[in-house]
Amino acid sequence: MSRTNCLEKYGVLEMMLVKTADAMNGEIDLPGDKSISHRAAILASLASGQSEIINYASGADCVSTLESLKRLGVPVRQEGTTVFLHGVGKRGLHKPLEPIDCGNSGTTIRLLAGVLAGQQFDSVLTGDGSLRKRPMTRIIEPLKSMGAAIDGRRRTAPLCIFGERDLKAVSYDLPVASAQVKSCILLAGLNAAGTTKIHEPETVSAVSPSRDHTERMLEYLGADIEEYFVATGSGYRHEVAIDGSSELTGKRIIVPSDISSASFFIVAAVCLKNSRVVIRNVGLNPTRTALVSVLQGFGADIEIRNKKTRNHELIGDLIVCGDRALETGQKKAEIERHLIPNIIDEIPILSVLGTRLPNGLEIRNAEELRVKESDRISSIVENLRKMGAAVEEFPDGFRVGRSELKGADVESSGDHRIAMAFAIAGLLATGETVIRDSSCADISFPGFFDILRKVVN
Ligand code: S3P
Repeated sequence: MSRTNCLEKYGVLEMMLVKTADAMNGEIDLPGDKSISHRAAILASLASGQSEIINYASGADCVSTLESLKRLGVPVRQEGTTVFLHGVGKRGLHKPLEPIDCGNSGTTIRLLAGVLAGQQFDSVLTGDGSLRKRPMTRIIEPLKSMGAAIDGRRRTAPLCIFGERDLKAVSYDLPVASAQVKSCILLAGLNAAGTTKIHEPETVSAVSPSRDHTERMLEYLGADIEEYFVATGSGYRHEVAIDGSSELTGKRIIVPSDISSASFFIVAAVCLKNSRVVIRNVGLNPTRTALVSVLQGFGADIEIRNKKTRNHELIGDLIVCGDRALETGQKKAEIERHLIPNIIDEIPILSVLGTRLPNGLEIRNAEELRVKESDRISSIVENLRKMGAAVEEFPDGFRVGRSELKGADVESSGDHRIAMAFAIAGLLATGETVIRDSSCADISFPGFFDILRKVVN
């Protein structure tokens, strides 16, 4: 792989040239989990006392969270990937002097909206062009039902949040399995009178359909929070209750490596024969690991070793080999509906894997992909087509058939997961692939291309 730089109208946008690879080999350490890092920083800010967050995610999104907290008066010091943060308590944040810029980060804006709705001052949350297009009604409505005052004419950021409101606890049925919405309401619930209850959409097993890092971190820092599963006859409903009188205490938090960042290396190693990759200390929270079980179901050789628990999160090492044929395992091309929220961030890279599966891959019930950092269904379909794959687009997903990928000029659409997924597609394709605006990978994974360069051969 080699890098080129080109000068575009709006500044220097990086392009990456990717060539066919034979194998991937090596041991890799990846940046800290993005979702857990956001929660660690936000909850530690609302706690009393000092927290030390080890392996804090290095991507731009988690920098946006730290910068936002600083603007709210939280003392933050960083040494490498360790963050020292002095909690100011649930009501100790300061009125920001200007709008808070959440950059590209949906998690930052939605979680902070929940925190700021219950403060005694006014604030404005905004972000970059992509973030300002993403739907915010999903958080505005529940926050208003709790008594928050938010500029209601808008469905998107900037969000103007008027403080000095006393929030009241509500019982809320989440219309979509979204961890960002669930977390926003839980954070508002920390400052509401009474017990706030959230009911997630029904699912088939007793695992939260959306990621549950907020619940685990709240519990770890001492909140009065309860989680339970209610059997419905046809499945389970995950319910969470948080008491508004909860207080948090700062602690040492170890952030595992991000399984969503690992997914690019996992899929590449599975697809390239003679590969063996060891990825250490990866987060294995069951609300995030459907990727591993889906791949194992397709016949992939993935082993998990050295499991342990740190701050209520499961961690372990992944050993991924590319010698087992993917032909053996695949029974169905479609990924089951209940797994979609669990693998939502891995769908771009799974689409690339689909071109290697005997029956291809079908993703449905994934309309949420249309409102991510880009319209990921269109980005995936357009890029796969450019690379010669047979793809059909649906309103809620796509179907890709087994195809020989050919090198092409593809667009990241400014979306980090699209840039990284199509870099892996380039390794599997014949010829050369150019990823336009590849530097957006830094949103979640600075150093992605450097690590890739070290392990491919
Ligand atoms: C995230 C939740 C998911 C995910 C996003 C991170 C989080 O979004 O796609 O990358 O950290 O809570 P939704 O909650 O909108 O599904």
